[in-house]
Amino acid sequence: MRTLRTQVLIIGAGPAGLLLGQLLHKAGVANLILERQTGDYVLGRIRAGVLEQTTVDLLDEAGVGARMHAEGLVHHGFELMFDGQRHHIDLSRLTGGKSVTVYGQTEVTHDLMDARAAAGLQTLYSAADVELFGFDGDRPGARCTVDDERIEVQCDYIAGCDGYHGVSRASVPVDAIRTHEKVYPFGWLGLLSDTPPVSHELIYGRHERGFTLCSMRSATRSRYYLQVPLTEQASDWSDERFWAELRRRLDPAAAAALVTGPSLEKSIAPLRSFVAEPMRFGRLFLAGDAAHIVPPTGAKGLNLAASDVRYLSQALIEHYGERSGAGIQHYSARCLSRIWKAERFSWWFTGLMHPLPHEPEIDAKLHRAELEYLVTSEAAMAAMAENYVGLPV
Ligand code: FAD
Ligand code: PHB
Repeated sequence: MRTLRTQVLIIGAGPAGLLLGQLLHKAGVANLILERQTGDYVLGRIRAGVLEQTTVDLLDEAGVGARMHAEGLVHHGFELMFDGQRHHIDLSRLTGGKSVTVYGQTEVTHDLMDARAAAGLQTLYSAADVELFGFDGDRPGARCTVDDERIEVQCDYIAGCDGYHGVSRASVPVDAIRTHEKVYPFGWLGLLSDTPPVSHELIYGRHERGFTLCSMRSATRSRYYLQVPLTEQASDWSDERFWAELRRRLDPAAAAALVTGPSLEKSIAPLRSFVAEPMRFGRLFLAGDAAHIVPPTGAKGLNLAASDVRYLSQALIEHYGERSGAGIQHYSARCLSRIWKAERFSWWFTGLMHPLPHEPEIDAKLHRAELEYLVTSEAAMAAMAENYVGLPV
């Protein structure tokens, strides 16, 4: 068994783990990452696309913002589509000048991986059978197998950034953790293509055939989503079937403007609201999807992972620098206060935009009334905009 030693052991090299590693490194705190998959596998997952200003600021602080500023698209609004019409939501006007940046999670991860490699920081990819120990005492660590070699990492703290299916949350004794979960009876079928986006802004649409989202990665790459029943498989959907269904759910002008092409990727994501409380167990912290999941309608998943990492990096830097334990003590409560508000927004926006199968007519009428209210009331629009651009950290 080979033994390694670090200050903070990070489990998972997704955006949460990589960003935490970078912020700690900048402040002189040693860290090592254990990742179950290969780097290429992590980069192959197509996920989120919208960054709140506070996430952009944190990526700048970590020193990885250059390409995001050069290639990311700053959006000052989005379009809400229902009853065959689009309504402009002017985020900047409604929030006193705030905006969001469209820059894919794959690119964020790429930039963080490059910075980590350039700084010579250690990431053990393809780490199998990761097992945590000792986080309820003062000598925590983890054991795993890399290339048939058994490795033990000893550390001061463990950051569980290993996503919803990770080992960190699963290592906590069941009587020490409470989980809250809601699974939605539909999924999102996503398609990525090298075609120009149908509109220069994102379109969130409610249609009786199902929700649709028109998003993008650049001026030449589009990302589209369709609400589909959970019984569907991505392989049931030829590109032709996807484009035809998308066109049916768009307003006439957008349907006419839609440029189609071969898909680069197609996959179905289930929708879930999930929160685990608390987020610290002795010397183990949970951050990002390891602790919570939001349905993607509000574009909050990656942004919440970033705000957890902001609080956790501050807490650990304070601990090592000023020898103060206040940030560590308050980590869980600080995160959860922001998380529950983002959970509420994502749940509300999901319910508003997705018709349920066999929905009673009264529900459809109530949703329609709410959408009409939303696009005619400054107060209602401002409440939505304030949540979409991100609540304060
Ligand atoms: P992850 O990105 O899940 O990273 C966790 C890492 O830990 C992974 O690399 C994983 O391989 C690793 N890991 C897991 N188990 C272990 C283990 N035992 N040992 C070592 N390493 C381990 N958000 C949006 O805002 N918009 C979207 O459109 C959107 N689409 C999504 C689609 C899917 C299919 C999923 C799953 C999520 C989506 N999200 C979306 C959410 C967003 O991508 C996540 O919130 C974000 O990835 C969270 O980052 P993370 O680092 O916390 O977790
Ligand atoms: C995306 O571009 O993948 C995306 C954008 C906004 C969302 C969800 C996903 O709300």
